[in-house]
Amino acid sequence: MRVLSGIQPSGALHIGNYFGAIRQYLDLQRGNDAFYFVADFHALTSVRDAAKLRGYVFDVVVDLLALGLDPEVATLFVQSDVPETTELAWLLTSVTPMGWLEKCVSYKDKVQQGLPAEHGLFAYPVLQAADILLYDADVVPVGQDQKQHLEITRDIAERFNHVYGETFKLPKPLILDAVAVVPGLDGRKMSKSYGNTIEIFDDPKAILKKCKKIVTDSKAVEEPKDPDNDHLFPLWKLFAPEAEVAEVAQRYRNGGIGYGEVKVRLAEHISKRFAEARERRADLVAHPERVEEVRLAAAERARKAARVVLERARAACGVG
Ligand code: TRP
Repeated sequence: MRVLSGIQPSGALHIGNYFGAIRQYLDLQRGNDAFYFVADFHALTSVRDAAKLRGYVFDVVVDLLALGLDPEVATLFVQSDVPETTELAWLLTSVTPMGWLEKCVSYKDKVQQGLPAEHGLFAYPVLQAADILLYDADVVPVGQDQKQHLEITRDIAERFNHVYGETFKLPKPLILDAVAVVPGLDGRKMSKSYGNTIEIFDDPKAILKKCKKIVTDSKAVEEPKDPDNDHLFPLWKLFAPEAEVAEVAQRYRNGGIGYGEVKVRLAEHISKRFAEARERRADLVAHPERVEEVRLAAAERARKAARVVLERARAACGVG
C-alpha cells in the first residue's frame, strides 16, 4: 500500500508528536510503500522567515532519520522539491466549491488564533489534497485534527473524477488519535502552542528540568495516590518498563513514593529511550551533505511518481 503523510515543519519535535504520529509513521514504513514529506509550502502560511523555514525543514528531515526512518525503505522528501504539487493544486482549485473551504474549521481556528486571513491559508486544504492525490496514496495516517482535510480531499477527488472521468484514487484516512494522548507538563494535551512540551532531542539535563515541572498535587511521600488521576503517571507508563510501571502503581496506591522520585526516574527513561536517536542526530547534523543526499534521492523518486499522476490529470482536463 502507498502510505503517505505530511509533516509541518514548525520547530523541535516533542514526545507528544512522537507517540501521536511519528512512531506510527516509523512502524508503517515496514511492509508498505511509505511516502513522508515535509510540508514547507503549507508552512508558508505561518513561518515568515526564510532562514527559519529552511532550518525547520532540515530539522524535520534530520529528526525523522535519527528516529529510525530508513531512507532505503521509505521516501522522505520535501514538498517544494516536487513543484508538480502546486500545478496539481491549481487543477484541483478549479473544481473546488468555495463553500467546502468556507466550512473548514482549521481555517477559522487559525484566523481566530491570529494568523492573517490570507488566500493561502484559505486554500490550504486544496494544496493538501494535491499532496495526497499526486501520489495515488491508499492510506493517509493523520491526527484527528486532519480528518476534515481528508474528507475534503476525497470530495475534491470525486468531483474531479465526476467532471473529467476517473483520474484520482480515493485515499483512506487512518486516524491515529486513539493510540496515545500524551499529557503535557500542565496536564493538558502536549502541544507546542501550550508551551507544555518535553522535546525529544533535549539533552538529559533539560529533560530532567522539564520533568520536574510536571504538575502534581501536593500529597506527601507516605500518602496514598491515584495513578489513574494524575498527569505524571500516564507519562511514566509510556516510558517505564512493565515491571516498573506495576511497582510504581502499587507504591502510588499504598503510599510510600514521592512524585519527585517518579519524575527523576521518568527523566532517566526518556533520556535513555532517545539516547541512540540523539547520537544519530548529532552525527547527521555534523554531516549535512548526507542529509542533502537523502533529500535529493527522495525528491527524484517522488517526482517520478508525481509526474505520472499529473500527466493523467492534465490530459483529463485538457491542459498541456
Ligand atoms: N496539514 C497537515 C498538518 O498540519 C500536514 C499535511 C500537509 C498533510 N499535507 C498533508 C498531512 C498531506 C497528510 C497528508 O498536520
